[in-house]
Amino acid sequence: MRPDAGPAAARLQVHHHAMRGRHLRELFARDSERGSELVAEYDGLYLDYAKTHVTAETIDLLAGMARERHLEQGIQDLLSGQPVNCTEARPALHTALRTPAHATLTVGGYDVISRVHRVLDRMGSFADRVRAGQWRGYTGGRIRSVVNIGIGGSHLGPAMAYQALSADVSDDIEVHFVSNIDGHDLAATLRRVDPAHTLFVVSSKTFTTAETLTNARTARAWLVEALGDAEAVAHHFVAVSTNRDAVAAFGIASEAMFEFWDWVGGRCSLHSAIGLSLMLAIGPGQFRRLLAGAHSMDEHFRTAPLRRNLPVLLGMLGVWYRNYFGTTTHAVLPYDQRLARFPAYLQQLEMESNGKSVDRTGRPVQGNTAPVVWGEPGTNGQHAFFQLLHQGTCLVPCEFIGVLEPAHGHTEHHDMLIANLLAQGQALAFGRTEDELAEAGVPAWQRPHRVCPGNRPSVTLLLPRLTPYTLGQLVALYEHKAFTQGWIWGINPFDQWGVELGKTLAGDVLADLQSAQPQPRHDSSTHALIDHYRTHVHQ
Ligand code: F6P
Repeated sequence: MRPDAGPAAARLQVHHHAMRGRHLRELFARDSERGSELVAEYDGLYLDYAKTHVTAETIDLLAGMARERHLEQGIQDLLSGQPVNCTEARPALHTALRTPAHATLTVGGYDVISRVHRVLDRMGSFADRVRAGQWRGYTGGRIRSVVNIGIGGSHLGPAMAYQALSADVSDDIEVHFVSNIDGHDLAATLRRVDPAHTLFVVSSKTFTTAETLTNARTARAWLVEALGDAEAVAHHFVAVSTNRDAVAAFGIASEAMFEFWDWVGGRCSLHSAIGLSLMLAIGPGQFRRLLAGAHSMDEHFRTAPLRRNLPVLLGMLGVWYRNYFGTTTHAVLPYDQRLARFPAYLQQLEMESNGKSVDRTGRPVQGNTAPVVWGEPGTNGQHAFFQLLHQGTCLVPCEFIGVLEPAHGHTEHHDMLIANLLAQGQALAFGRTEDELAEAGVPAWQRPHRVCPGNRPSVTLLLPRLTPYTLGQLVALYEHKAFTQGWIWGINPFDQWGVELGKTLAGDVLADLQSAQPQPRHDSSTHALIDHYRTHVHQ
């Protein structure tokens, strides 16, 4: 997006000229109500964006740009099943996955909601049977371990949520996640589980992903060898996919397959059958609360005015920094160890969705799209990369996420955690001047090294507790943030053609690593690397 493309963008450009020279200290000094006014709340979530370079006027202008680019229409198109995924000519209906059963939504001639609930009911009764010890392994043993085999959207959401909801998971079943083609990943998990008590959930939207199918085949061979009978597979393998034929070809019967649909994007699939491993851990009732939280956020996204709409606010603040301040990265800093995998989950959601350089019509985009998203939980990050955030030469907008009530009784720890979260936002915004250092008695020679310039933006999102419901809200909030940004940038957030090339080339390279006569089809660097590998490994 060119910062000056269209009247609203041009107005923002002028406004940016006025704002960019204003230190956050000055913005706070001018308006003592800032801290209570530049906040938005919804259904228990509290978003503070006072420590960013905005005023009420900025928010009006950003909302004006969203309106000018017909974001409200885009939201209706998304939720009503219009083919917003224009390069694959299909809807992106992840919101239907959490729509209550009494609603109806007909897309392409069939009722989407009844299909969703049919699968949810099947998942629920399967999870209940496994959890109650009624579904047993081949030798009659109870299922004690679940291994989710999947990658990307078929891994990151469930793995993130399993850790986030650690307080809600059953003690009777431990869930493991295997994603990487690196055999160390599977080998480490297989060492920790007992084949007689293990259920493998092979999760793949396409059921063609090389990593997942290779891991699943190796796991199947391990199981058959351990239990001594190929018949055991039916007791220990289920699949989650949209591809019935490929699941059958793998050897998993259709009764053991949980379906979802091509209109669910991989990175927005946590609330589909891809959540089965999570449901096995937390139970169907809690899984439905996850869906209810997400649905609540969907309704907020649909109905709230743009100025108070949490996903729109987060999305537009991202646009403000990316397109006007020219920031290139964006840090997500959950101050909750249970959300340790949330930044990794967001990397796929935001970077696979919006890391694009052509618009919806195929023309080069004018200006920048998604920044690099990264992060680690606090307070760990403070002792690693926060130095750069405070005194480095690049501006990194930060998103702090905190949870008010912990699921443990160590009050002292929690108070310290939240104190650090709030202090970091303060330190980034206000810094420490040379005069303040002098007043504190810091020797003159040391002061330049200790000055923290401040003026570094952050938002703080506070959840009341971390429960299935609030996690559902959080996931939907960021899904809609990514949609908002994709819409403003005029790109399709629902395809990912860029990841295909590497997959195709890997096939050729693999053939040459293994063949007696490698083809002379690569560049000289890749050839030399292939030769080096063959010399050391295959000779
Ligand atoms: O890496 C590309 C990708 O297609 C992701 O979009 C997707 O989430 C992941 O691979 C896994 O795909 P599948 O669920 O089809 O195995």
